[in-house]
Amino acid sequence: MRFIFQLFLSFLVPILVDSTVYSPNSPTICLAETNKGCQEQMKMKNQTLESVNDNFPPLKALMKNYTEQCQNVMKCASGLECFKGKSEKAIFQTSCDEVGIKRYGFDYNCMAPILKRVYQEEYICTKDFGYKMLNLTVAQSLFKSEKQCFLTIARNACDTTNYNFFLKNYDEIVEVYTSRPVPDNSFCASTSDKFHRLQCEKLDGGFMTKATSVPVLSVNLSNPAVQDVVEISEAMEKCMQESCWVFNEDEKNSSKVFTDTFQALPANLTNVFKLRPRLLEYKCLANMSFYDFYHEQMSCVRINEAPDCFMFTITKFCREEILTDFENLEVSMGPKNQYNSPEFAFSMFKDNKKKRRFVITMNDEKAF
Ligand SMILES: *[C@@H]1O[C@H](CO)[C@@H](O)[C@H](O)[C@H]1NC(C)=O
Ligand SMILES: *[C@@H]1O[C@H](CO)[C@@H](O)[C@H](O)[C@H]1NC(C)=O
Ligand SMILES: *[C@@H]1O[C@H](CO)[C@@H](O)[C@H](O)[C@H]1NC(C)=O
Ligand SMILES: *[C@@H]1O[C@H](CO)[C@@H](O)[C@H](O)[C@H]1NC(C)=O
Ligand SMILES: *[C@@H]1O[C@H](CO)[C@@H](O)[C@H](O)[C@H]1NC(C)=O
Ligand SMILES: *[C@@H]1O[C@H](CO)[C@@H](O)[C@H](O)[C@H]1NC(C)=O
Ligand SMILES: *[C@@H]1O[C@H](CO)[C@@H](O)[C@H](O)[C@H]1NC(C)=O
Repeated sequence: MRFIFQLFLSFLVPILVDSTVYSPNSPTICLAETNKGCQEQMKMKNQTLESVNDNFPPLKALMKNYTEQCQNVMKCASGLECFKGKSEKAIFQTSCDEVGIKRYGFDYNCMAPILKRVYQEEYICTKDFGYKMLNLTVAQSLFKSEKQCFLTIARNACDTTNYNFFLKNYDEIVEVYTSRPVPDNSFCASTSDKFHRLQCEKLDGGFMTKATSVPVLSVNLSNPAVQDVVEISEAMEKCMQESCWVFNEDEKNSSKVFTDTFQALPANLTNVFKLRPRLLEYKCLANMSFYDFYHEQMSCVRINEAPDCFMFTITKFCREEILTDFENLEVSMGPKNQYNSPEFAFSMFKDNKKKRRFVITMNDEKAF
């Protein structure tokens, strides 16, 4: 008995590990030298940059102009002593600003809300899109063929100013957001890189609502509602791994941990209910949704609170009932070596109530 008890205590005691350390993007180098050595080009570029405001993304003409100016700075900067042996990306980072990848008011207040509605399948006209939009070529042709549909969504999703901007510049916006830059330098600086990343953030669609509607006790891989949320999680993971733009170095790895944990959950739950069927009778899990459980497990995973966050979470929710069961078991059956396996002990609990009744009956019979 004591052995099992200690085993559970070890789940309950948090193991604190240093929380994740975030490192910033690679620092800009040779800025002073570039300002000095390429003053003319920098000045021209800076002038063009003044035409870019925080509210609206630059469209074709301004983007082309800016790109030319920044390429001029790069051409000049690559001849500077300071950049000897440095990568083209380093020169790019110093010479050019985040004009394409930057998020403007329009992105927050219009494009993101539109994508959210598309992935929530709120509109019939985009219901069949699935994850097709993640392919930029396909996205462009869908924007073109379903223009009326996207404008209808925008009218509901965006404020008037942004809706008018979208309406007035629809074709250009679509082109800028869904075209790969020419030449494609893979510096992850283009508007299409931003657009792809925006989709990763919005494609979770109804994930939370859907995962909240599934009771944790009915989670198994043959449940269609479970298959649905697992699919969303897989799409999210794929998108994040393909996205070139990250908030910080850790982001890809931690998002993988989040999605992997979620995808393992149905099998983990099926498994634990099979080994420890008594859990199915506990009140602690009765009203809990799949999402609640995952959410709690992730708060453990996030801070590395326990070596096995899955069991940690079950124990956390059901501690009272588990402890009560242990007391009952001790009273009714007393210690026995074979019960020292937690797996076995749990399966014994299933018949705990009957056993207790059985013990009493025996006593009564003895009395006769
Ligand atoms: C260009 O703008 C940047 C950022 O505002 C500034 O640091 C730099 O001194 C400017 N360079 C020139 C040559 O005007
Ligand atoms: C491009 O930038 C230059 C320099 O700032 C400016 O003179 C010109 O008017 C710009 N052209 C467009 C189309 O914005
Ligand atoms: C995107 O879709 C186009 C057209 O259907 C296809 O040719 C291309 O291979 C796709 N790209 C990717 C990365 O899947
Ligand atoms: C899976 O869950 C569904 C919904 O709760 C249930 O009807 C079905 O019997 C379960 N299947 C298995 C194999 O447990
Ligand atoms: C992310 O994971 C990869 C592969 O497992 C590893 O090589 C890399 O060091 C990790 N990066 C961080 C920042 O933890
Ligand atoms: C949960 O599932 C993962 C992946 O299948 C597995 O590695 C892990 O051991 C499981 N955890 C538990 C407690 O069953
Ligand atoms: C579970 O939900 C039912 C109905 O909503 C409620 O009556 C019951 O008290 C809840 N049980 C727990 C343990 O929260």
